[in-house]
Amino acid sequence: MPEVTKATDVYFTLNNGKKIPALGLGTVPSGDPSGVKDQVKTAVKAGFRLIDTAWYYGTEKYVGEALKELFEEGVVKREDIFITTKVWPSFYHNPEKSLNQSLETLGLDYVDLFLQHWPIALSGDENGKPPGPKDENGNLKYDDDPVNGTKFIEVYKNLEKILETTNKTKSIGISNYSLDRLKKLLPEIKITPVVNQIEFHPQLSQQKDLIEFSEKNNIRIECYSGYGGTGAPLLKLPLVKDLASKYNVTENEIINAYDILEGRIIIPRSSNLERIKNITKLPQLTKDELKQLDQLGEKDPKRYVNDPWGYGIGFKGWEGDKLSEPFEKK
Ligand SMILES: NC(=O)c1ccc[n+]([C@@H]2O[C@H](COP(=O)([O-])OP(=O)(O)OC[C@H]3O[C@@H](n4cnc5c(N)ncnc54)[C@H](OP(=O)(O)O)[C@@H]3O)[C@@H](O)[C@H]2O)c1
Repeated sequence: MPEVTKATDVYFTLNNGKKIPALGLGTVPSGDPSGVKDQVKTAVKAGFRLIDTAWYYGTEKYVGEALKELFEEGVVKREDIFITTKVWPSFYHNPEKSLNQSLETLGLDYVDLFLQHWPIALSGDENGKPPGPKDENGNLKYDDDPVNGTKFIEVYKNLEKILETTNKTKSIGISNYSLDRLKKLLPEIKITPVVNQIEFHPQLSQQKDLIEFSEKNNIRIECYSGYGGTGAPLLKLPLVKDLASKYNVTENEIINAYDILEGRIIIPRSSNLERIKNITKLPQLTKDELKQLDQLGEKDPKRYVNDPWGYGIGFKGWEGDKLSEPFEKK
C-alpha cells in the first residue's frame, strides 16, 4: 500500500524560529462571506491550525466569530492557532492602521503573520477606501509609478517597524513578490520576510527560479490558488486524478502533497464543508511523481491569477504586465 500520513501534523520552521502549519485554510469568500464562519470551524475541528485571511477579503469578521466559538468550546486555544492577515495596496500608507482594523474585526490582540498583500501602491483614503480606486478614465489610480516606483519598499519597512515596536504581530512577510521585486526589496531591509505568498501549483513550475531564490534567502513559499482558484482546474488533470486513485486520496490531497513534501505551505479554500474534512491526508508521493507533476508546468504552463495591476510586477506569463516574460516553450 502506498504510504499516506496526515498533512495537519506537518509544521515548518520560519527564518525567525517560529513554526507554521504546512496546510492552512484560505478565506476568500465564494458568494456569501458569512459562510466562512462554518468553513473555519469545520477546518479547525478537522485539524487545520492555519487560517489565511486579509483586510480585503471581507471575511475577518466571520473568521473572528468562528475563533471565538472555537475558544469558548475549548476546541483550541489562541496559541494553538496561526492567523495570517494582510495590508491591501490602497492602505499602503498606513499598514498599522490596517492591522488595527483587522485585529478589531477578528477580535484578536495579535496575528501570527502580517503580510504586504501586493508590492504596489493604490490611491486609497485614510481608511484604505476604495480598495480599487479608479481615475476619470476608469483606470486604476496609483500613488506610485507601477513599473519603476519604490513605495512598495517603504510599505515593508513599515511592517518592520510594527514588528519591532508593537506586539500586534509575531512575524511579517510578503505576497505577490516576483523575482524582480524581491531583488529590489532585499538589499533595502533589515528583517527578512518569513514567507512570500504567491500563486503556485504544478502548472507554474516554471517559477522554480523564484522558488530557489526565495529558499536561498530563507523565505518560505506559501502557495495560493494551488487548485487554480474557482473551478479548481488543477484537480481535473489526468495525472492528478491517476495519483489520487493510486494513493486512494482526493485530488486536493495530491496537490497539497506536491507543495508540502517540497517544504511549501498551501492554503486552499472550499465552501463545501465535506471537502474541507477530506483534504488532510498526505500521500507520500515519490520523487519521480513530484517530477511528473512539475512537467505539467514545463509542457503546458498556466497562470490563473492575472489581476489588472500587473503593469510592472514581473511574474512570468502574466497577461498585460509590461515586465512579464512569456513562459518558455518546451
Ligand atoms: N495573496 C494573494 O494575493 C492571494 C490571492 C488568491 C488567493 N489567496 C489565498 O489563497 C486561498 C486559496 O486560493 P484560491 O481562493 O485562489 O483557490 P483554490 O484553493 O486554488 O481553489 C478554490 C476553488 O476550488 C474549488 N474546489 C476545491 N476542491 C474541489 C473539488 N474537490 N472539486 C471541485 N472544486 C473544488 C472550490 O470550490 P468549492 O467552494 O465549491 O469547494 C473553490 O472554487 C484564498 O482563499 C486566499 O486565502 C491569496
